[in-house]
Amino acid sequence: MHTSILSFILALIFALSVNAHWKAPTHHNGYLNYTTIPGLFLQDSPTTNASTFNFTASNFGLIPRRYPSDSTWPNPSPGAGKPTQWQRLTHHITSLNTHSPPNVRYALLYLGRHGEGYHNAAEAFYGTPAWNCFWAERDGNGSVVWADAEITPTGAQQALAVNVFWKSLIPEGVPLPQSYYTSPLRRCLETANLTFGGLELPRGREFKPTVKEGFREGISAHTCDRRGTRTAIREAYPGYGIEAGFTEVDELWEKGHAETSGDQDLRSKEVLDEVLGGDGSTFVSVTSHSGEIASLLRVLGHQEFSLSTGAVIPVLVKVTTLKSAPATSTYEAFTSVSTCAMAPTVTAASCNDCSCCK
Ligand SMILES: *[C@@H]1O[C@H](CO)[C@@H](O)[C@H](O)[C@H]1NC(C)=O
Ligand SMILES: *[C@@H]1O[C@H](CO)[C@@H](O)[C@H](O)[C@H]1NC(C)=O
Ligand SMILES: *[C@@H]1O[C@H](CO)[C@@H](O)[C@H](O)[C@H]1NC(C)=O
Ligand SMILES: *[C@@H]1O[C@H](CO)[C@@H](O)[C@H](O)[C@H]1NC(C)=O
Ligand SMILES: *[C@@H]1O[C@H](CO)[C@@H](O)[C@H](O)[C@H]1NC(C)=O
Repeated sequence: MHTSILSFILALIFALSVNAHWKAPTHHNGYLNYTTIPGLFLQDSPTTNASTFNFTASNFGLIPRRYPSDSTWPNPSPGAGKPTQWQRLTHHITSLNTHSPPNVRYALLYLGRHGEGYHNAAEAFYGTPAWNCFWAERDGNGSVVWADAEITPTGAQQALAVNVFWKSLIPEGVPLPQSYYTSPLRRCLETANLTFGGLELPRGREFKPTVKEGFREGISAHTCDRRGTRTAIREAYPGYGIEAGFTEVDELWEKGHAETSGDQDLRSKEVLDEVLGGDGSTFVSVTSHSGEIASLLRVLGHQEFSLSTGAVIPVLVKVTTLKSAPATSTYEAFTSVSTCAMAPTVTAASCNDCSCCK
């Protein structure tokens, strides 16, 4: 009798734990439909090679060109020089918003990947099969910790290089972010801090980021994707805001389980809806991860464009509020992840899925 109650309770706990998934937050009236407007940045052109592209060497990828709004550039003071490309871009986006119907608006997103973390260095050190199938499920190897990985000195240098880059663009009239968001994982909290620290930002553009769960990395069984507590984030970065409803402990990460990429895209859509539906900003910075930015780009209808550590991509998004939503997909349970009992010695990419180490 007692045994059967106990096993029932255990089965219930098991069922609840394997069914954990992203909890969809509040819904909006209408459906926000996203389209990327190409032709402004090299990164949205199919002829740009992401693996060799250097965004700091190419002015963020901004294409030198005319915009239909150039002729209405306001000439503020006699003797003021010709507007820069960045000033004309800002005017272009402002004009698009002025002339768009009430259910359409445009926003420029700056999506930045964190600088190199200890988990990136460890994956390079061990090779992907041994990393995925053995080491990544552990917190570290005795000398290095990669659970909720911090950035390495190289990663910090990358973030500081982006800081120097932003500094160089301010006199060019780059449209600075009006709001800033970051993933709750330490590598992003740190990257955002170094990227935007010490910049002379005007009023209304101050670096006051909001930590948002929805911008975290794809939730894998790797410990680098398990976040710290709300209290730890608050104590380490007292100047950061934390979104309402952010739980004290990480309720999403699950040992041995992973979010599906379909679920990841659903929550990317949800977090974009919160930001683009709720925040009136036209210029928005997001500090996130390679897998999560890839998901955001899919949801935004942008071509695939993989970012190296520390890289940032600008995306002009057209947001159309539609009356009816298409049939919505629902969240699924996390899937079980394969691992190996011992670190595999195979280094071939064909073993990245741990199929060759049984
Ligand atoms: C909705 O977005 C998709 C993908 O970007 C696009 O193809 C489609 O034209 C958009 N629909 C409307 C009505 O804006
Ligand atoms: C992009 O560049 C990489 C590295 O130089 C090269 O291996 C790859 O073939 C290029 N891809 C395309 C589509 O040109
Ligand atoms: C990108 O270009 C900058 C110059 O703007 C250079 O300092 C940097 O080393 C380059 N980065 C890479 C990864 O080649
Ligand atoms: C732990 O991993 C790092 C690479 O991230 C490596 O440099 C170090 O030697 C490893 N330590 C041990 C004890 O194996
Ligand atoms: C960056 O973090 C340091 C300490 O961790 C803090 O003193 C500083 O105010 C932060 N800067 C910004 C811009 O958040």
